[in-house]
Amino acid sequence: MASEFLVRIHDLHKRYGHEEVLKGVSLNVRPGETKAIIGPSGTGKSTMLRCINRLTDPDQGQIWLESTEVTAHGVDLNKIRQQIGFVFQDFNLFQHLTALDNVRLGLMKVKNMPKDRATELALYELKRVGLEHKANAYPNQLSGGQQQRVSIARALAMEPKLMLFDEPTSALDPELIGEVLKVMKTLADEGMTMLIVTHELGFARSVCDEIIFMEKGFIVEQGSPEQLFNNPKQPRTREFLSKLSELYGESPA
Ligand SMILES: Nc1ncnc2c1ncn2[C@@H]1O[C@H](COP(=O)(O)OP(=O)(O)O)[C@@H](O)[C@H]1O
Ligand SMILES: [Mg+2]
Repeated sequence: MASEFLVRIHDLHKRYGHEEVLKGVSLNVRPGETKAIIGPSGTGKSTMLRCINRLTDPDQGQIWLESTEVTAHGVDLNKIRQQIGFVFQDFNLFQHLTALDNVRLGLMKVKNMPKDRATELALYELKRVGLEHKANAYPNQLSGGQQQRVSIARALAMEPKLMLFDEPTSALDPELIGEVLKVMKTLADEGMTMLIVTHELGFARSVCDEIIFMEKGFIVEQGSPEQLFNNPKQPRTREFLSKLSELYGESPA
């Protein structure tokens, strides 16, 4: 039977040595939903994202992308990863390739697209993130914000069903954060399904459908931005939010 969810995560556990970093995380995402994952560092947010496209293998629990069990033995990992775009904090662009080549590489190598078609599509994706004019620039000729937008274009070119963002603006100078968040907001408005680990509470509040607060390997609380930011039920959520606003002098309001 078809599920109403694009992604289902059930009772995910992951251990590194003696440390259990995911202690039974369950989470569902509907098509078109954008969810923010917030929480202190070292609490398993990246590990959870990485389990979804099997960059990390969980010890226990299941993940489904539509009707495919991602965590099943013998699953076609290439096929799964083609359907999931992953944007990292540090961009992960190939330094020896131009923006255009970074975006078109997967189309040619993974999707076996002819060069002219791949070029056309890559230029379209660069245009979507406002960087068509930088197609021939190398990463070191681009600002951090521009590099991150190239990396988003590269992920989008594969036409993913799901986009995962792991602190996409954490490595950026403050004045460059907005241009990346703007691209992400447009994607959300266009109906892309996204899971975003972020400390940008203002963005999370205004763009995301749901906020998930994770701590020490658990989802402590999840809810609408209004509920979680204005009226958190758990004392730990309240403490975390007030600590963040102390640190950044920012409130999500
Ligand atoms: N490959 C790894 N090997 C050993 N420990 C790891 C590895 N990846 C993450 N960890 C540990 O798992 C815990 C959770 O890490 P992570 O998922 O990166 O947290 P977050 O993204 O919330 O900061 C941390 O204590 C981290 O040191
Ligand atoms: Mg992390």
